[in-house]
Amino acid sequence: MTAMTPAAEDDLLSYREEFPILERKTYLNSCSLGALSRRSMAGLAEFQELWNEYGASAWYRTWIPKLGELRAAYGRVIGGKEAEVALSPNVSTALTMVASCLDYSRRPKVVVADVDFPTIAHQWLAKAGLGVEVVTVPSEGRVHVPVERWEEAIDERTALVATSHVLYTSGQIQDVAAIAEICHRKGALCLVDGYQSAGQIPVDVHALDCDFYVGGSLKWLLGGQGMAFLWVRPELVQELQPTVTGWFAVDSQFSFDNTELRLREDAGRFEYGTPSIPTVYTALGGLSLVEEVGVRRIRERTGHLTRDLVSKARSRGLTLRVPEHSEHHASITMVDVPDASTVVRGLAERGVIADHRYGLVRLSPYFYNTEAENDRTLDALEEILRETP
Ligand SMILES: Cc1ncc(COP(=O)(O)O)c(C=O)c1O
Repeated sequence: MTAMTPAAEDDLLSYREEFPILERKTYLNSCSLGALSRRSMAGLAEFQELWNEYGASAWYRTWIPKLGELRAAYGRVIGGKEAEVALSPNVSTALTMVASCLDYSRRPKVVVADVDFPTIAHQWLAKAGLGVEVVTVPSEGRVHVPVERWEEAIDERTALVATSHVLYTSGQIQDVAAIAEICHRKGALCLVDGYQSAGQIPVDVHALDCDFYVGGSLKWLLGGQGMAFLWVRPELVQELQPTVTGWFAVDSQFSFDNTELRLREDAGRFEYGTPSIPTVYTALGGLSLVEEVGVRRIRERTGHLTRDLVSKARSRGLTLRVPEHSEHHASITMVDVPDASTVVRGLAERGVIADHRYGLVRLSPYFYNTEAENDRTLDALEEILRETP
């Protein structure tokens, strides 16, 4: 990874003004919820103003075109096109859409990893009554899943593999291109959960050669709750027949024809009913910042901050659960402590916002953070550990 010039760093630090929370807190929890920007706040105000000014006619003049802008922006951060992207209120609903398109009669297996976010497995565990079998691939200590284990688990009975690009349990960047290759060789489809990757590491869905890529605005895309996306490989868009739907998925939605179902030709056919427009505005605000900074620069900066955090934590004698090689380590760093929830509470009392998962403290600096904030977090953490009997 190329080192950034000091000028580029200064450039990024000027973005701190965009995020009011950074004036109040040391915020190292973007992998749970990205910071709210002034741009998203301005977007929200604009949405309200349009509602006041135009009422329902704002749909036609502004809000429907905004949905297209949002699909296009999500597409750009993952190397896809507007026509390949469907909007969804959250990842779970996007998974429901994909699950509804699959035929489990000859291929009843869906393969996930024990380190995938639970909502992935839950989607297919809920279909046990339909004969769906969920196979869970075990990780190595919740840090990574060796590719051979995917090779063993995927077979001619597998309909789908659904797994994460970046593991929320360790920050490991999975080799999802290798997993997609195994899937296709064995006739299965491959869905990638990009919630922890889109925005923070460069993604090119076409190069990954996966079939579905899901993500959302909550975390690294800085857009808040209530808006997610589903990218579908263009060759599959027309082939798939969803059995869940809504009137935003149909071809001429404003003809109000309820006698037949004609779905849109693009990936919009995988949408549902009325979307949350305030969230479209907050999502576009966040995405505009991510695109302006550029995902490559973001990865350079977060890579630098992650290496800084890891080396400083280790030199203070803290135990980490992180990927072995920094090039596979995205900006999630797990710190092993005796009582993570007490530590996270203690950090909050000291003005440091972090999180915990599986008994470990989880720290996730973003491009707007600094080395000084890493130091402050580690100082506070050591102080709490000293004080905790
Ligand atoms: C990897 C991953 N997938 C999915 C989700 C959330 O899914 P949903 O949008 O359905 O709440 C999260 C976190 O909230 C996550 O970390």
